[in-house]
Amino acid sequence: MGRLSGKRAIVTGAGSGIGRASAILFAQEGAKVVAVDRVEDAVDETAAMIRELGGAVTSVAADAGDEIAVKGTIDHCIKQFGGVDVVYANAGISGGWVPMQDQTPDYWAEILRINLIGPFMMIKHVSPHMIKQGAGSIICTASVAGLRANAGGFPYSASKAGVISLVQTTANAFYGTGVRVNAICPGLIETGMTKPIFDGARAKGSIGKVGQLNPLNRNGEPSEIAHMALFLASDDASYVNGQAIAVDGGLSSTHPFTGKQRS
Ligand SMILES: NC(=O)c1ccc[n+]([C@@H]2O[C@H](COP(=O)([O-])OP(=O)(O)OC[C@H]3O[C@@H](n4cnc5c(N)ncnc54)[C@H](O)[C@@H]3O)[C@@H](O)[C@H]2O)c1
Repeated sequence: MGRLSGKRAIVTGAGSGIGRASAILFAQEGAKVVAVDRVEDAVDETAAMIRELGGAVTSVAADAGDEIAVKGTIDHCIKQFGGVDVVYANAGISGGWVPMQDQTPDYWAEILRINLIGPFMMIKHVSPHMIKQGAGSIICTASVAGLRANAGGFPYSASKAGVISLVQTTANAFYGTGVRVNAICPGLIETGMTKPIFDGARAKGSIGKVGQLNPLNRNGEPSEIAHMALFLASDDASYVNGQAIAVDGGLSSTHPFTGKQRS
């Protein structure tokens, strides 16, 4: 028996990085998975990897920031698998680093549309089904950038702070229904999004310094976020609700310091 046996799960951003690792882990733990990404080839590849492992999966090419597409994804899960128990609203974009005077309302709007309004649309449309069945786990990917400055661009950080607020407000909106809503705040994880950081560090010969700001003194791997998502998706987390949980090697536990602490 897997930790998600019998559950039906939607994972967005499943074509790469954290979403791919989570979709695979959910399926390995017995969930039937709807893998969603706007890049069709990438999400099909994830689905093929899951099938190779003997898992149950269907892939959907869709924009996680589009309300009609989000609703369509939920309808697809219900049609294919008979319901939906878990949603991991993980798709996101960084928006790169743009100087303040060059940031436009359109630049802000696109980042907020995908990173914040997308998860809201998912919560809006999946919650009636979950409330009806008296149970459900919704997980969103926020970021340490939503906790404090200097981990992303301005709109990215604001979008992730918004995700943290979103899980708090919606968890409370679902008072007494059995539906849980939580967020994960990853630190620096090696994925498609952070490839330029890792490629740049490798080119400069400074890869050993990546992750040095957290007390584990290393970056994280997608599977380390996927394991937190698995916990939150499962009944092991039955009393965890409305939380934004940092999975960051301890980065957000510390004030800035120079040099290494002595043990
Ligand atoms: N990598 C990190 O260090 C890090 C840290 C904190 C938070 N995060 C967050 O983790 C989440 C996953 O990112 P990742 O690091 O795995 O990056 P990634 O680029 O490897 O994966 C993101 C996936 O989301 C997909 N995507 C983007 N916009 C989409 C949309 N509108 N509709 C559907 N799919 C879309 C992309 O095609 C890609 O496959 C994001 O929300 C990101 O902000 C990442």
